[in-house]
Amino acid sequence: MTVLRRRLGMLLVALALPLAARAAPVELTIGADSAAPVIDRNLFGQFAEHLGAGIYGGIWVGEQSPIANVRGIRSDVVAALRALHVPNVRWPGGCFADEYHWRDGIGPVSARRVQINSNWGGVTESNRFGTAEFMDFAEQIGAEPYVSVNVGSGSPREAADWLEYMTAAADTTLARERAANGHPAPWRVPLLGLGNENWGCGGAMSPDHYVEEMKRFAHYVHNYSPPAAGGAAMKRIAVGWDAGKYDYTEAVMRAWADKAYSWDIEGISLHNYTVGGWPPHLPATGFGLDDYATLIGETYHMDSLIARQSAVMDKYDPQRKVLLAVDEWGAWLASTPGTNPGFLAQQNSLRDAILAAINLNIFARHAERVKMANIAQMINVLQAMILTDGPRLVLTPTYHVYRLYVPFQGAQRLPVMLDGGQYRHGPVTLPRIDAIAARAHDGAVWLALVNVDPEAGSAVHLAGWHGASGDVLTAPRVDAINSFADPAAVAPVPVVGRADGGGVLLALPPRSVTVVRLDR
Ligand code: AHR
Repeated sequence: MTVLRRRLGMLLVALALPLAARAAPVELTIGADSAAPVIDRNLFGQFAEHLGAGIYGGIWVGEQSPIANVRGIRSDVVAALRALHVPNVRWPGGCFADEYHWRDGIGPVSARRVQINSNWGGVTESNRFGTAEFMDFAEQIGAEPYVSVNVGSGSPREAADWLEYMTAAADTTLARERAANGHPAPWRVPLLGLGNENWGCGGAMSPDHYVEEMKRFAHYVHNYSPPAAGGAAMKRIAVGWDAGKYDYTEAVMRAWADKAYSWDIEGISLHNYTVGGWPPHLPATGFGLDDYATLIGETYHMDSLIARQSAVMDKYDPQRKVLLAVDEWGAWLASTPGTNPGFLAQQNSLRDAILAAINLNIFARHAERVKMANIAQMINVLQAMILTDGPRLVLTPTYHVYRLYVPFQGAQRLPVMLDGGQYRHGPVTLPRIDAIAARAHDGAVWLALVNVDPEAGSAVHLAGWHGASGDVLTAPRVDAINSFADPAAVAPVPVVGRADGGGVLLALPPRSVTVVRLDR
């Protein structure tokens, strides 16, 4: 069935070229820039919070579950995520992180504290999924742990103990406790979040208050198991910009520029959701072109937001020693009807896949400063990769974008020149074609193209290239989704370019994401 669909899709894409191209093909040139930055693998990071079915049901089903699992972690989810080469997973929150006390989630299950998840739906949190389970999950999918410590309601001592528990190889009391709990070898923690949104759910701190707290955490929390030789030491990510009231970025960077020898940070965060107006109300399914244009238009705010934050950082850090981590982003829509609103469950459409691709392109264009990003969230929450329902699993259109973009992980960005014109809808005017290119480790050149226009196809011509092959993700409607009943309604199909006048011609169907490898 899948093979048939892919063959049919390929045929359709090939046939669609003359029909879809609305005008003369757009000339696209890929330049050379040996000084261009690498598109950091960590831009493709994920976020898994104790929220709704993000952990329980989505990742953790327990050893006794009829759903196939390894030590309680569902195997279908692991297999799907492995294909994405997920670089890192941020855990345990979000808002949950600043109420998380690590001792509640270690050791014998019978001793784990059962509590209320006061941030998300007021449901019972069993702490069955704790440090060991998260580390196991990260290892099973091949990702690095990005652990957020509790700055809001915890203490530097609590966070320091957690890091020692996780990373100490020496014969310390906490390392012995870890060994007694079944893990003699230390874990690696290459990424550490110093709180979460401490201007809001993380304690509603003023910027100056946060800076004073953050410095203590940055100083007292030690990683005793730095990555192996050749790797960088643990990166500490402080909390940055608040969409509402404060500019944490300014306060943190000012403090950093004037810092004492005793503390440091390696990054600062930026959170930005694409919402269409708070509170989130736009439907995830059954919407039309007005909503499409509104959300895709808002997606481009990410570009100006990063530019503004980078400008603040440049002022204090012209050498770009501190990275910008967009460690929460994605579409935040009305909850799926009938679900607990605190679970932030939402469907995921072709529109969201296009939104994801544009954001990834924006991050790549800011790769000099943006070296991490974490889409919110991995499974069953907000703009998820995967939706589950008991034993059933569906890969979302956003999942497919992440799979198509794997070749861009760690690739060197290349300049792209094109004038694809504009897409206009009501007050919204957008670039019709959004593109990035990069040279991968093996020397291959990859091109990602988003045809933002939901109604008109386009085509690009690349002089000097003789082959283009890859995949295209599209569907008959912008609100097309993958459901449990029809899990492959939105799935990539192979696409090839056509030799044309000393170059290659590539059709871009309306509302599509295309990723191709180019050959000279
Ligand atoms: O991703 C959902 C929530 O959004 C996170 O917990 C919080 O950090 C943000 O406000």
